[in-house]
Amino acid sequence: SGNSHDHQDDDASFRVNELPRARFWDAMDICQWEGSWFEPGLVKPAVTFRTTFQAHHDDVLLASPPKTGTTWLKALCLCIMQNPIPIATSDSGVNAEAAADDDDDILAKDNPHFHIQTIESMIYATKPHPDLYSTPSPRLFHTHLPYKVLPDSTKNSPGCKIVYITRNPKDTLISLWHFFNSIFRPNGLEPYPLDRAVDCFCSGVHQYGPFFDHVLEYWLESQKRPTKILFLKYEELKREPKAEVKKLASFLGRPFASEEEVEKVVWRCSLERLRNFEVNKNGSILYGVPNSSYFRRGAVGDWKNYLTPELEEQISRTARSKFEGSGLCL
Ligand code: A3P
Repeated sequence: SGNSHDHQDDDASFRVNELPRARFWDAMDICQWEGSWFEPGLVKPAVTFRTTFQAHHDDVLLASPPKTGTTWLKALCLCIMQNPIPIATSDSGVNAEAAADDDDDILAKDNPHFHIQTIESMIYATKPHPDLYSTPSPRLFHTHLPYKVLPDSTKNSPGCKIVYITRNPKDTLISLWHFFNSIFRPNGLEPYPLDRAVDCFCSGVHQYGPFFDHVLEYWLESQKRPTKILFLKYEELKREPKAEVKKLASFLGRPFASEEEVEKVVWRCSLERLRNFEVNKNGSILYGVPNSSYFRRGAVGDWKNYLTPELEEQISRTARSKFEGSGLCL
């Protein structure tokens, strides 16, 4: 363009300015890249991740659309990869184990998003050349990016595993609506009109949207390569936590030795336990987003308290038309 500012930027950021733009819920700009919508500041980090990241044979990449159980999945994978929990050696006495539960539990010290960072927004957004190679193996990362823009090495490295979690679209939308209302419309401001939120969600014009394409793409890949990609549903984790957590651990090559171990991990990662840690009540790790906003009701079917039959039908219709013939039911 001849503008001197552009010379400091590389190709990716130059293109960001040229991408189609939209307004998300009257609150932030988003732009369309590779068919999906992102906060403009995330496109360059996503491009750097895609073009430079080298997967290791034992990497674990977690993936999810926002508000589908990311925090829960991060907590579970942390526990599974560290199972069994190291017990403090100096402790003795009857309450030794109970004390060890909180004192030695990394979940009590920091929010799961601190331990397993979202790669485009927390790692590449802050440093274009992060030192990911000194991270002890196996490395655990998370991304909200769609499958189509993942680095080739994550797709092709035979050992690198991907765990995807998703959720019923109506509950996802309601969770997203609460989350963004709490961030963008605090202090008693009216919540964003729900009918407009549903419109955006169904047309896909929202952060990391379209949701339905995001889910479908990972679903189809997981069907093709079930040992490479594990596809989890929030509702199934809620309904049968032990069975699902066992499946997850086996997939990660860390099967449990006993039922007790499974129960312990499920308990350690429960919403009730996590939300009561000081760090999750009053801490914050992301752009001033309070950690408490990651823990709300965690209920299946909460949408029934908010969506009119018309809005519900609008989402169901969209889901039906997008997922038709794929075998996916959400
Ligand atoms: P609700 O808003 O429906 O309560 P994400 O972690 O992807 O941002 O998703 C947030 C949703 O997961 C929120 O749903 C939140 O309450 C729920 N959640 C967070 N931690 C959880 C846990 N340990 N177990 C179950 N649900 C959890």
